[in-house]
Amino acid sequence: MRILNFGSLNVDYIYEVEHFVLPGETISSDHLTITTGGKGLNQSIALSKAGLTPFHAGAIGKADEGMLKGLLDSNGVNTEFVEMHTDPSGHAIIQVDKHGQNCIILFGGANQQIDEEFVDKVLENFNEDDIILLQNEISSIAYIMQKAYLKGMKIYFNPSPASIKLYEYPMHYVDTIILNEVEGEQLTGESNIDNILDSLLKKYPEIKVVLTLGEDGVAYADKHRCEYCGIYESSVIDTTAAGDTFTGYFISCIVKGMDIKNSLKFASAAAAIAVSKLGAACSIPSLKEVEEFIIKFNR
Ligand code: RIB
Repeated sequence: MRILNFGSLNVDYIYEVEHFVLPGETISSDHLTITTGGKGLNQSIALSKAGLTPFHAGAIGKADEGMLKGLLDSNGVNTEFVEMHTDPSGHAIIQVDKHGQNCIILFGGANQQIDEEFVDKVLENFNEDDIILLQNEISSIAYIMQKAYLKGMKIYFNPSPASIKLYEYPMHYVDTIILNEVEGEQLTGESNIDNILDSLLKKYPEIKVVLTLGEDGVAYADKHRCEYCGIYESSVIDTTAAGDTFTGYFISCIVKGMDIKNSLKFASAAAAIAVSKLGAACSIPSLKEVEEFIIKFNR
């Protein structure tokens, strides 16, 4: 069993601000950090730090090869399917306020140059024993889902960021969807947690749903069962990539054979560590850090 993450790679420009800029307002930031990000890249790093050896497929501008592909390589991610483009890489402009909350503007760049030809070229290397992970930051998602499903691959989907495009995707091909409340509301039109879960299961009876609830923990539901797990308290510096850390760790726990409840707990601990550090990919903890954090927390 191999895991392929077909996803975005971004350069993140993180501005620390007193408060998020308001309409018509100009504000200054005293701290700019330029670092690696993209929900795809972050999730590949999380999978790898959690002990798996994922393949990453995606597209970047040639100028960022060292920074983006280099980071994946140095973390043991297989990058043979990361393509170089003459277009610039995707980037994100991230404001982080004094409470550690963020807001993000995305520029797709090369992430939006993923075409059907490239998808076919990548997927011909994978088969029904393999897993594919997708987020919502690259082009051709519907096509990837269709092709991967026809090959018998198990599809994990993190529909982030939520957008109108979600309605075009063949979601009935998805094995497990990992989403937050905002994405849940966008997909179902419901705002109550139970209603989001019910609505998704009604629409897609075979799907497994992992619904992250921020400070309120995380809920899991499939047609047989429902589970809930609270959060691990930690000091919040920057919530960027907390969801990506959770996703990578949750999948790796499941792949390693851990049960749902313990996978939710383990992934929540990893996300709690990520929010205590500034940055996206660089805030994702190692397996050892997560294990030590859980031991300390349970003392
Ligand atoms: O989930 C966090 C990520 O969202 C950032 O790294 C940014 O690049 C955007 O994709």
